[in-house]
Amino acid sequence: MILILLGPPGAGKGTQANRLMVERGLVQLSTGDMLREAVALGSPLGQRAKAIMAAGDLVPDALVNELIDLRLDVSPDHPGFIFDGYPRTRGQVDALDLLLSARGFKLDFVIELVVDEDALVDRITGRFTCSSCGEGYHDRYKQPAVEGVCDVCGSVNFKRRPDDNEETVRNRMTEYRAKTAPILPYYETRGIVRRVDGMAPIAEVNAAIEAILDAR
Ligand code: AP5
Repeated sequence: MILILLGPPGAGKGTQANRLMVERGLVQLSTGDMLREAVALGSPLGQRAKAIMAAGDLVPDALVNELIDLRLDVSPDHPGFIFDGYPRTRGQVDALDLLLSARGFKLDFVIELVVDEDALVDRITGRFTCSSCGEGYHDRYKQPAVEGVCDVCGSVNFKRRPDDNEETVRNRMTEYRAKTAPILPYYETRGIVRRVDGMAPIAEVNAAIEAILDAR
């Protein structure tokens, strides 16, 4: 199973990818997470990406295509991938087609999370994650059961992303509209686009995606 989760910043791509990893054993490939890791390590890639990400612009295609290429060499019994935040430009779409076909892989679905952009600023600026295990939370929509303690690993340390401020979020949305939304018609011609209401509660969005995958 290979699927792409598509949607603007805060649409819920990471949230849903995490659930599918747990439920189906699929492997999440988040270029955002990979780039943040590179920034934290201070690697040459991270040094190039840091200011671009802080501004909410897109990192050059060649850099993210390489990150994905490095992760696709897997054994035949691999359960499959969820692309989260990739591809984001037509250049990345073309690169992914080549990377998959070179390995004999087939893209099953592009699942678009349809959302109300005005609500997303609120979602993003309220989000935080556990510093130890990465579990995601939100000030209003998903708080830990015990305040200040991670539900999953018990850590008391949490962090917020530096690009989750309103100005940067608005630029990330502009980038999405200008460069990423235009890739949808290409996938439409291949008959693999499915749409899910991303404004529904997290569990309902998950159930709708599961139904699409089950119907394959
Ligand atoms: P990236 O990390 O990919 O960020 P993004 O696409 O802006 O998406 P987010 O992670 O912000 O949102 P999400 O859709 O995953 O939502 P989430 O599940 O967290 O990219 C960051 C940067 O890296 C880019 O700006 C760019 O610079 C660079 N980059 C990355 N990939 C690149 C690429 N391919 N090419 C070039 N540059 C690249 O949910 C958000 C919040 O809402 C959470 O708090 C969650 O709990 C909550 N929530 C989720 N679903 C629901 C729901 N249904 N109801 C209520 N709350 C919900």
